[in-house]
Amino acid sequence: MRSSQTSTHPKLPSFLAVFFLFLSTSNARNFLLRGSSLSVEDDSDILISPDKTFSCGFYGMGQNTYWFSIWFTNSRNRTVVWMADRDRPANGTGSRVSLRGDGSMVLTDVDGSIIWETNTNSNDVRMAELLDTGNLVIKGPGDKILWQSFDSPTDTLLPNQLFTKSTNLISRLHEGSYASGYFSFFFDTDNVLRLKYDGPDISSIYWPKPYLNAFQNGRTNYNTSRIAVYDEMGHFVSSDRLQFIASDMGMSRIKRRLTMDHDGNLRLYSLNNDTGLWVTSWEALSQLCKVHGVCGRYAICVNTPEPKCSCPPGYEITEPSNWNKGCKPLFNEPLFQSQRVKFVELPHVDYWGFDLNSTKSFSIDSCKSLCLRDYRCKAFSYRLTGEGSCYTKSELFNGYQSPGFEGKIYLKLPVTVETSQLAILNGTDPVCRSDGSETVIRSPSMYNISAKRMRWVYLYAFASAIGFIELLFVVSGIPLSNWDIEGGEENESDITGFVRMVERKTQCGEDSWIDEIVDPRLNGQFSRNQARTIVQLGISCVEEDRKKRPTMDLVVQALLECQY
Ligand SMILES: *[C@@H]1O[C@H](CO)[C@@H](O)[C@H](O)[C@H]1NC(C)=O
Ligand SMILES: *[C@@H]1O[C@H](CO)[C@@H](O)[C@H](O)[C@H]1NC(C)=O
Ligand SMILES: *[C@@H]1O[C@H](CO)[C@@H](O)[C@H](O)[C@H]1NC(C)=O
Ligand SMILES: *[C@@H]1O[C@H](CO)[C@@H](O)[C@H](O)[C@H]1NC(C)=O
Ligand SMILES: *[C@@H]1O[C@H](CO)[C@@H](O)[C@H](O)[C@H]1NC(C)=O
Ligand SMILES: *[C@@H]1O[C@H](CO)[C@@H](O)[C@H](O)[C@H]1NC(C)=O
Repeated sequence: MRSSQTSTHPKLPSFLAVFFLFLSTSNARNFLLRGSSLSVEDDSDILISPDKTFSCGFYGMGQNTYWFSIWFTNSRNRTVVWMADRDRPANGTGSRVSLRGDGSMVLTDVDGSIIWETNTNSNDVRMAELLDTGNLVIKGPGDKILWQSFDSPTDTLLPNQLFTKSTNLISRLHEGSYASGYFSFFFDTDNVLRLKYDGPDISSIYWPKPYLNAFQNGRTNYNTSRIAVYDEMGHFVSSDRLQFIASDMGMSRIKRRLTMDHDGNLRLYSLNNDTGLWVTSWEALSQLCKVHGVCGRYAICVNTPEPKCSCPPGYEITEPSNWNKGCKPLFNEPLFQSQRVKFVELPHVDYWGFDLNSTKSFSIDSCKSLCLRDYRCKAFSYRLTGEGSCYTKSELFNGYQSPGFEGKIYLKLPVTVETSQLAILNGTDPVCRSDGSETVIRSPSMYNISAKRMRWVYLYAFASAIGFIELLFVVSGIPLSNWDIEGGEENESDITGFVRMVERKTQCGEDSWIDEIVDPRLNGQFSRNQARTIVQLGISCVEEDRKKRPTMDLVVQALLECQY
């Protein structure tokens, strides 16, 4: 008893010191003690590194989308360098990140469910600290690092952050989204650093030059240490002999970041102190059309110099304003030997990969007949180098046009398809865009839903039966009973418009629509996942094709699963 009293007294001053430190610098601390937390509601509830370069806390977008993140304090638009779980944002109300008594750092949502946590359950944990390097560390006794954000980068590598065999920088899906995209920077199994496109249809390496081996690319695959790093000066070195320097190399006070960008290029940036803008000081590819997967199937990327996408003659865009879906043929595939076909010439164009056959010292006529005889052949690429190189193609992906490319593509098309003599490839931007006409999102209740409302109502009835009434209030903003169920003109276009909007936004990886259709009276106190599931369920229930509609068993199951 006595001993415990004497031992608590000397601790009191240090406890008070910490207390006063909190009071005096409530919004400028760089540490989080065990047992404390950061809340999403308070904008000033953030950690700031001692030299103020980095901030760490909730980074918000839209009304109800927040990520536990680290960002550059002084960059315009707060450039994010790390996120706890980029694919699972937290709610704008009630979410918090806590350094729990058991030592783990935990990100919880409004309902207390865990979105993300560190594996640091240990009595040794003392505190979390944001360092000047941009690294968030959880420290044990003697400043031992038990966990660090540097071990789990998202799309950005900071100076002195080790890039290892398990590091994978993954791009954002597109500008304005933080979801995981299709491009990545990583050590390949042969120890070489590469850039890869890994999309829904294909996966393909595009840097360094995929048609050369490691040595021809100036790399080595013999050093198995698989380690890379760059310093504040802007000098990058890797065990595969990749080395580069920033164009403003040597100025150590410049803030830098190496980012796997959403357009598929890897860039080193420098922050301009005065403007808060980023300047590129090195990039992996000088022509963005060299990036694979930019324009989708059949489409051709044209450097203008910004990359634009076009469909070749005989093809048209699959889904206007979404190049991810590429182009589709204006004729029935495949073209059998019995059909009358022609070859349309596209100078300075190539499609990378999917060679049925590659033959050297081949005449163009032999190449043509090779393609004619094979119904799988959709086109052939022909180059005059090496007395004629012939590549017949079974798929047309990664198309690009470059004045420097000396070969041609010959597209196999039915004679009946009309094509102009000279194909003009002047495309549109490769981004996944929502239709401009729908910048203002209307909630389903604002559309005059009548034709298909009965199916929504059917869902409503089921949902109410199993206690999900409030969820449907959530997505409609108005009880479904107020939806004009009796009478009214059949107006399919409104609900079709809504459905299209949701589909397009979902494809583009956008989640903002959820906030906009949810009843504002909820003040953000709703589950984004539940709202998304309900809307998507509703949409699948109004599928044109009856067979694509889910069975009620599946609906009930999905509703039960989306409770959490
Ligand atoms: C910052 O964000 C605004 C609006 O979101 C945008 O218009 C602007 O281009 C951004 N600036 C930079 C430098 O990214
Ligand atoms: C392998 O790469 C590492 C990191 O660049 C370097 O320190 C090491 O000397 C290399 N090993 C050999 C055998 O070249
Ligand atoms: C940025 O600011 C720091 C100090 O405020 C200064 O030392 C540095 O030279 C500046 N960098 C540039 C590029 O202006
Ligand atoms: C490619 O075509 C040539 C010429 O017709 C033929 O000799 C060769 O076997 C083919 N190769 C493959 C892999 O089909
Ligand atoms: C492409 O070029 C043609 C001819 O110059 C022009 O008529 C057409 O409008 C252009 N298309 C686009 C999308 O710019
Ligand atoms: C909001 O909270 C729910 C739990 O109530 C959770 O499932 C959901 O993922 C959270 N996040 C968003 C952005 O809605």
